[in-house]
Amino acid sequence: MGEAWLECGDHGHQTYTYDYARSLLPGAGTGAGMWRYQALLPRPDEPTRYPLPVGGTPLRAPRALRQLLELPGLWLKDETTGPSASNKDRATALVIDEGLRTGVRVVSTASTGNAALSTAIGGAAAGLAVVIFVPDDCAPAKVDLMVARGAYVFRVREGYRAAFELSRRAAARFTWLDRCTGLNPLTVEAKKTTSFEVWEQLGQRAPEAVVLPVGDGVTLIGAAKGFRELVACGALPWVPRIIAVQAQNCAPLAAQWHGNPAPAHWPGTVADGIEVPQPMLGDWTLDEVRAARGDFVTVSDAEILDAADLLAGVAGIASEPAGAAAFAGLRRAVADGLLGARETVVAWVTGANLPAGPAGAARPGAVFTISADLDAVAAALAGTPIPVP
Ligand SMILES: Cc1ncc(COP(=O)(O)O)c(C=O)c1O
Repeated sequence: MGEAWLECGDHGHQTYTYDYARSLLPGAGTGAGMWRYQALLPRPDEPTRYPLPVGGTPLRAPRALRQLLELPGLWLKDETTGPSASNKDRATALVIDEGLRTGVRVVSTASTGNAALSTAIGGAAAGLAVVIFVPDDCAPAKVDLMVARGAYVFRVREGYRAAFELSRRAAARFTWLDRCTGLNPLTVEAKKTTSFEVWEQLGQRAPEAVVLPVGDGVTLIGAAKGFRELVACGALPWVPRIIAVQAQNCAPLAAQWHGNPAPAHWPGTVADGIEVPQPMLGDWTLDEVRAARGDFVTVSDAEILDAADLLAGVAGIASEPAGAAAFAGLRRAVADGLLGARETVVAWVTGANLPAGPAGAARPGAVFTISADLDAVAAALAGTPIPVP
């Protein structure tokens, strides 16, 4: 099995390969949660510095939901149980753990909301200063939570893509640790551990298919790489089929997949976590779905909200809309005949809204609304403890 196969083509991004001759035995690693997969992570074999728990999330067998929907093979990978209640915590942990080894003092990221919140929480716990770039329309409740953890937050008027570009320029200029999803290759490495866990939790088997939401694509690519590495380790005969899910109201990759023209402006979706009109890793995501014999489905906001209601009311999992999108997509894929009702299928539940922060936690002077301009960042931070050399 060559490395080119492992990398699923060359997309111009750094990827990691490992000594796959070493078998990935359950419990072989000494760490807890995600750190158990040390042999397949790009980090030295030494104690973890990141202070919060990460990974080891439950794979739920939702009895009542299975009966209600007549889907006996339905499983839910519940990623809502981490410190910031989303799967972003895995990537945050791996990036910050490495940053702590190199002595960084500031971590930054751009995000539609959840990666930012995860970075604010993880950065604060690790003793780092945190700078966040979000689109101007980021949910105020999420910004409040970031600020309550001590982060400085830039609302960027031009939207997510501009926030992303500004974030990476600021990190390069001010020598901050850049956690930007898709840009930092550790984000894919961290998220692949979810697949290792699914494999173990199913008794060292893969499901027939997995269903994943797509924003920038890192979650799906990570999951796919995890299964490909299990094949490379000899732990699986093949990777499961991958069904990719986008919100109908912001579905650039689904449109490309199906050969449909994309509108000049997407109307916007209630699933803000996957509202990414120009995904960072679009081509790579399409290639992964193709390589995994998969398909793309889209779901309406009504379907997403209905899925979130079912997860909460019948499966006991509180999720935010983006977190419920894969489950909504699973239902759509079954209805469209892409998945069989009796197949063993795992849908990722990728996030939940944290409860509101403590009242009065907002710090004056911690949130700036700016145009995407590096000088505006430096000027805003000049009166703060964040160094802007
Ligand atoms: C809850 C939730 N689910 C899914 C995603 C999509 O992840 P990715 O950008 O890795 O495709 C996000 C991204 O922010 C998210 O917040």
